[in-house]
Amino acid sequence: MRENPGPDAELRRLERNPRRAKPWTVIAGTGSSTPRKILSNMDLERIVDTTDEWILKRTGIRERRISMNGGTETVAGMATLAALKAMEMAGITPKNLDLIVVGTVTPDRQFPSVACMVQNELCATNAAAFDISAGCSGFLYGLDVANNAIRSGGCRTALVVGAERLSSVLNWQDRSTCVLMGDGAGAVVLTATSKEEGILSTHLKSDGKFWDLLYCSEGNSPVPEMLRGIHSSPFHLRMDGHRLFKKAVECLSSIAREALDHNSLSSEEVALVIPHQANLRILLAMARSMNIPMERVYTNLQTYGNTSSASIPIALDEANRKGVLRKATHVLLVSFGAGLTWGASLIRWFL
Ligand code: ACO
Repeated sequence: MRENPGPDAELRRLERNPRRAKPWTVIAGTGSSTPRKILSNMDLERIVDTTDEWILKRTGIRERRISMNGGTETVAGMATLAALKAMEMAGITPKNLDLIVVGTVTPDRQFPSVACMVQNELCATNAAAFDISAGCSGFLYGLDVANNAIRSGGCRTALVVGAERLSSVLNWQDRSTCVLMGDGAGAVVLTATSKEEGILSTHLKSDGKFWDLLYCSEGNSPVPEMLRGIHSSPFHLRMDGHRLFKKAVECLSSIAREALDHNSLSSEEVALVIPHQANLRILLAMARSMNIPMERVYTNLQTYGNTSSASIPIALDEANRKGVLRKATHVLLVSFGAGLTWGASLIRWFL
C-alpha cells in the first residue's frame, strides 16, 4: 500500500486558524467490486417471457452481475472490497478514516448498518459509520454529507460507498422490472486539501409526493432455478416505469443545469458526465436536453444494469482506471432514484 503523504502544510495551518478559508475535498482513490455471476439477457429469456432484443432496445442493458448468497458477495462484503481498492489507490490505511458512509437500499440486515460491518472488516477504529437510504441517489447523498464534514473541519478523511444487492428484492416473475437491475459496490476515499480543487459543489433534491413510482412492498417471489442460492427478502420492488422515465429525464437534466449554473460553467466545459446508470434511453434524452454529445456521457449499464446507489461509483472507478478522467478537467455526477431523490456533484478531477 502506498504511504499517505499526510495533509499538506497549508492545510495544517488552515486547521489551526479557523478564520482562514475552509478546506476543500478531493477524491483521492476509487474502487469497485461486482459479483462473479453474469446473468445475460439470453439467460433471462429462460426465466421470464422476454427477449434479448426487447431488453437491449428498451434499456441498452446486455447483462448484469448477480450476487450469490454469502461470502464476499454480501452487500458489506462487496462494499469492503471496493473500499480496500479505493484506499489502496489513495494510499491511506484504515486508521486514517474518520468517517464511513454507505448509500444502500438493500442492506444485509435492517440493522446494524452496512457501514458498521465495513468499519469492522477494515478495522477502521477511528471512524464513525452509518448508512444513507436515498434510493439510487444514495452515493451522491453520502458524498454531500462527507464533503460537508470535511469542509467544516470535522473530519479529514472519509470513505463513501454505494453498495447494493437489488437481486434480493426483485420479483423474478415480473419481466418489467427483473431485467433492469444488477448487484455491486463502488467506493471513493475523500481527503481534505487547502487547494480549491476536487468537489466544487453538491446539489440534492427530493420529492416524496412521487414515492409510489418506485418502492418495495411485501411479497416475496420464488427464486428461479438458474439462480438457486441467491439471497431473497420478503419484499420486492414495484415500479411505474413510464412515469419514472419522464421524471428521471426531467430531474437529471434540471439538476445538471443547476450544478453548471452554480459553477458558471457551460456544458462544453464538462469533460465527462457520469450519470446514474438506469436506462440508455433516459441518458440519451438527458444528453439531448443538456446539449452534450453522448461521447461525453459515460455509460457502463450495458454490463452491469441498474445497480442503484452503486452505479455512479462503479462507473467512476471504471472511468478512472481506464484513464478516461483527466486531471484538472470538470466531471459532473448526476443521479435520480426512489424517493424521489435526485442530485448532482461538480468535480474538478484531481487524480
Ligand atoms: N420483455 C418483453 N416485453 C416486455 C418486458 C420485457 N422485459 N417488459 C415489459 N414488456 C412489454 C409490456 O408488457 C408491454 O406490452 P404490451 O404493449 O403488450 O402491453 C410492452 O413491453 C411495452 O411496455 P412499456 O412499459 O410501454 O415499455 P417501455 O418502452 O416503457 O419500457 C421500461 C419499459 C424499460 C421499464 C421503461 O419504462 C423504463 O426504462 N422506465 C424507467 C425505469 C427505470 O429506469 N427505473 C429506474 C430509474 S430510478 C432508479 O434507478 C431507481
